[in-house]
Formats: sequence, C-alpha cells, structure tokens
Amino acid sequence: MKTPKRHTITAALPYANGPLHLGHLAGVYISADIYARFFRSNGEDVAFICGSDEHGAAITLRAKKEGKSPKDIVDKYHFSNKDIFEKLGISFDIYDRTSSDHHHKTAQELFLQLEKKGAFVKKESEQYYDEEYKQFLADRYITGQCPKCDSKGAYGDQCEKCGSALSSLELINPVSTLSGKSPQLKSTTHWYLPLERHEKWLSDWMQKGTFNGRQVHDPKNWKNQVVGQCMSWIKGGLQPRAITRDLDWGVNVPVEDGEGKVLYVWFDAPIGYISATKKWAEEKGKNWEDYWKSKDTNLVHFLAKDNIVFHTIIFPAILSELDGYILPTNVPANEFLNLEGEKLSTSRNWAVWAKDYISEFPDQEDVLRYVLCSIAPENKDSDFSWKDFQARNNNELCSIFGNFVNRTLVLTKKYYNSVTPLRNELLEVDVELIKTIKKTPDNIAKAIHSFRFRDALIEAMKLARAGNKYLADTEPWKLIKTNPERVKTIMNISLQITANLAIIFEPFMPKKALDLAGLLNIKLPTWEQAGSDQLISSHHTINEPYILFQKIEDEKVEEQIEKLKNKGQKPSKFLPMKDEITFDEFSKMDLRVGTITAAEKVEKADKLLKLTVDTGIDIRTVVSGIAEHFKPDEVVGQKVSILMNLAPRKIRGVESQGMILMAETLEGELSFVSPTKEISSGNTIR
Ligand code: MF3
Ligand code: ZN
Repeated sequence: MKTPKRHTITAALPYANGPLHLGHLAGVYISADIYARFFRSNGEDVAFICGSDEHGAAITLRAKKEGKSPKDIVDKYHFSNKDIFEKLGISFDIYDRTSSDHHHKTAQELFLQLEKKGAFVKKESEQYYDEEYKQFLADRYITGQCPKCDSKGAYGDQCEKCGSALSSLELINPVSTLSGKSPQLKSTTHWYLPLERHEKWLSDWMQKGTFNGRQVHDPKNWKNQVVGQCMSWIKGGLQPRAITRDLDWGVNVPVEDGEGKVLYVWFDAPIGYISATKKWAEEKGKNWEDYWKSKDTNLVHFLAKDNIVFHTIIFPAILSELDGYILPTNVPANEFLNLEGEKLSTSRNWAVWAKDYISEFPDQEDVLRYVLCSIAPENKDSDFSWKDFQARNNNELCSIFGNFVNRTLVLTKKYYNSVTPLRNELLEVDVELIKTIKKTPDNIAKAIHSFRFRDALIEAMKLARAGNKYLADTEPWKLIKTNPERVKTIMNISLQITANLAIIFEPFMPKKALDLAGLLNIKLPTWEQAGSDQLISSHHTINEPYILFQKIEDEKVEEQIEKLKNKGQKPSKFLPMKDEITFDEFSKMDLRVGTITAAEKVEKADKLLKLTVDTGIDIRTVVSGIAEHFKPDEVVGQKVSILMNLAPRKIRGVESQGMILMAETLEGELSFVSPTKEISSGNTIR
C-alpha cells in the first residue's frame, strides 16, 4: 500500500513530572522526528504532534512528595522538557499541554459524544478507600502483589514487572501508598469502556489490517512485538476498563453525577493528540479534521513498549466509536534502551539526563541523535554505553563523514580557490559512484517507510563511506601534479556527494545538515532533489571550510562513566532484600550454635551431606546441600548456626531436623560464618 501524502505523526506525551533522559529519546522522539522530517523534506503535509501529559497519579504523587501543587510540578517540567526537545532539534509542530482549557474542553466533548452514543457502561462497585486520607485508591495510589506474576509492588493499574494491566481489586495484600495502611472497600460509580465489545474488530484490524470491510493498513508493515502484545491481550479476553476516577486533578467528568470525578488519565491523554492538532490547525489556518478524519491521512503513533496497549486497543476503541475518525496506520513501538548494560532507572539515578548531555557536549546534539538512532531499540532492547558513543563519533562521524567532507572542501579551496570546477569525461569508477548517489535516497526512503530507522541511517552512511573511499582510492592530492584535469572531475563529483549528504542526513542530523549546506554555500535542498549529481553547478563558490565533527577524547568519556557510577547506584548483584517482617515473626525462629559431630554422604545424591549436629539440648540429624563444597571430614568439629524449629522434612528418605545456615558468595561458593570468640553448642543466636 502506498503511504498517503498527509501525515499525522504523534509522539507519546511525556508526563510532566520529571526530566527527559536518553531512554525517552531513543525510545520515542528521535525516530518520530526522523519520520516527520523525512516527509516534510519530501514536501508532504505533516502535523507532528506532542505535548505534556499533565494528569494522573504520576503527577499528583510527585507533587505530594515534593510538597508542591500539581500545577507547580507540571509548569516546571512542561517548559523544561519543551526546551530540551527544541535544543535537540525535535521538530514538533506543536508542543501542547493537557492541563490547558482547550484540551479539557475537547476531552469533555468527546466524552459526552461517547456517553450519548452508549459507548460506555456506568457501574457502581466497591473500590478501595483510604479512610485516613478520605480518598479512593486507584492506579498508583495502591500497591500490592501482582496476581499474574506474584511480584511485589505492582500498582493498581499495571504490574511493571510482567506488564500486565491490573485493576486494583485484583492486587493481593493491597496497601494504600498514601497512609501505608490496608484500605477499606467503599462503593462508588464509574464509567467503563466495555472493551469486550471491541474484541472482534480489533482482532481483524490488527491481524488483517481491515476495518469496516476496508483495507486500512498493511499488517506486514507492523512490528511483530506490537501485534504480538496486542493479540495476546485480545486472546486473554478484554475486560471493561474504567475511564473515570475519584480524584480532584484532571478533566472533570462533565455530567451531573460526575461530581468529584475526573477522566482517567489514559482516557484524556491520547485525546491530547487531537486537541493539540486542533490548536495547531487553528493557528495555521488549517482544517484539523483533515488530520483525524480523512482516509488519505497516515496516522502514526510513536511510543515505547509500555504504551502499546493504550494505543492499539484502548485509544482505537475510543476512535472507532467517534464519528468519522481514522485509526492509526501504524504504531511502531520501540523496546527499551539500557545503559552500560543495566536497566535504566530514574529512581536509582541510573540514567543520562538530556539536560546534562546538552550542557556537557555543546553543539553536539546531532551526535547524540546519530548514536541513538544507530542503536535504537527497534526490535529488541538495546544498550547505550559511553565507549560505544565515543567510537561511533570518532570512527564514523569524524573519520568517515567528517573526513570526506573536509577533504572535499579543503581541496576545492586549495586547487580552485573555492570555485567548483567543471568536470571532464567520466571513468568507470565515477559512473559507479553516480549510481550510488542516485539509489541512496530510495534505499533510505524504503527503510523509513517501514520504520527501520537504523537501516535508513546505515544507507545514508554508505554514501559518506563511498565518498571517503573514492578520495582515498583516487588520491587527488597526488594526481594534481600529473593529471589536473582528472582532479576537476573528482572534486566536482565529491562536491555533489557532499550536497547529497546534506539532504539525506537532514532527518537524522538536522543541524549538521544545515551546517553542511552553509559550508557549500547553498540553500538546503529538499528530498526531491536527492540523488542528483548536479546539485552544485560549476563556478559556484563554496564557503570557508571548518571541521564539522570534533573527536571526543578518552578523558571526556571516562568522566561521564565516573559521573554515572558516582551518582547512580548500580543495581546490586546481590539478592534484593526480602519483604519486611515483624519482630514477632522474627522471634518465632529458634537459632542456635551447633557442632557437627559426624558427617557422611547421602547415597545417590551428589549435593547432600547427612550431618549429625550437637545442638546443646539434643543430638540431631540435618540433611544439607553442601556436599559439592565440603568433604564429610572437612566439616566434622565445625561450629555452625542452626535453625532449630524448622518443621522436619524427609529429604531422600532421611528425616532432616532443622537447617544449618551458611554464607553464599556471589560466585555461589559456600562458607561457614566464623565466630569471633569461643562459643559453644546451644548458645542462642538472636
Ligand atoms: N505519559 C505517558 C507515559 O509517559 C504517555 C502518554 S501517551 C498518550 O507513559 F497517548 F497518552 F498521550
Ligand atoms: Zn506481574
């Protein structure tokens, strides 16, 4: 299917509750910006939409933690994030905010349309309530054990460990994050989106790309992991999803009995794409409906994998119930970016903040864009490391791209006083190179159309490599003495390549592309001109050369690694601490010092030793899994900690009465913990 010429490109609205880091950029915004710039450069009609997501528990909880109002929080981060995006050249047509009046108005209008149409069901049910804070507890206000994967600390809307969507009522041992107490049940009314009604068409849409009997996208163009995640939800059976909350920060529910309630943040936030488009269109004198209701519009949502369900199930379900809205043609979700081999974590400060990068690598924003695109987690998680960052800058941008451009410009200045020479008869190598110039833009376009931005960048780099190799092979600096006419051809073609690099790199490195056009003393050509070997006419004068990319020194990256390690806590390889227990629970354990008086191997069990232990009050048998670490005679006479009152159990036919305690190193070796004083059997451990 051919991509239409109007594009509504959305990038997930970041929560205005914290600063941006490289994970955000690599996961969502760099790819989205490349896509938007590519179509703009092709002269197509683009609305590139983003803004701050300013509602939801993520914001109110942050505000509470900092002792500020939600408004203070969102104001601060909205403006600082907007500024960061600008500095990184992310070319949103609008960076809106969901706390604005116009967004509230649009969200309420759409809610009412859906309500009138019967797209919701209203239900009274019991919900958890914090008596102390007089507040209902949903989403992040409640935590507990995940019913799906058993991990602790799952939230009332989602388990971050296994990614399951949850409702707070499913949590095991729920606790209020406000008071820390277990909550009460109390009755309340909410509006639900009955997702089960949408199962059938969503499944067809997802798998076949059809909607209302029409082919609306090509499923082959969708990422496997997106379709996979979405289908596993559908197969698991979709449940009604509450789209209102008992909170006071958010979009008020605009009906009589909606008093004291707001729209669920995941209901209003995607509508933010629409309200932002409206605002932008109004300012530009365009018709916003073209961007959301025209079948000729290519609607694409960029986001990271934790947002998939909201954009492939919930928001499409909403759009399908509204009159005339189109569905996304694609949701090219990325996976996650790791940092120096470890999972990125903002709470542990294991992150590289965009703001820090910008201040420490001035005028090198495009280097970051280049590296993050090269390693984008397109199909699986990927890793950012400072050493790799340095290598890509030094070995690719400096030694290949920069070197080629610089040689071209410097030699043109030196041999021709900066005036482009006329070229002579072409040799085989020139003809081949001109073919490469011609086909490069198509290769890049193909990759971008199918959301393979890494491949697109590799294709673009191929042209720089080809140019660099051309100069290295033809050696014009030697030829100039023996065959100056030939050098004219070489330099002319090199200048054409340089101009092509400016065009094809614009989506990836917009500032460097402009710099390059400036060096060539031309207006940045558009994509339609890419592939031509006649972009620079002979007799055209170029500007004074300067170096486009600076090498990054070892000290600079060492410093960054040091900084990360000092401020960030690397995740420990040790087992995480277990859940808190009470003193009562602790004191139930009877721990004592024992002495091993005899030991023998357990038959047909490589790991087990049968120990006889003198505990001071009795002599008992303990079966212990230490045979791979100690021979029987090595442990006889050894003092050991023993858990006395563990219920006896039969291990390989031998009854074990209690358990001995050992230290285990990270490498899995066992050791007795040795006493600092003479102690005897029967001494208690408390
Ligand atoms: N704020 C959400 C997040 O950071 C993303 C919202 S995307 C939107 O995970 F569709 F709701 F806007
Ligand atoms: Zn889970």
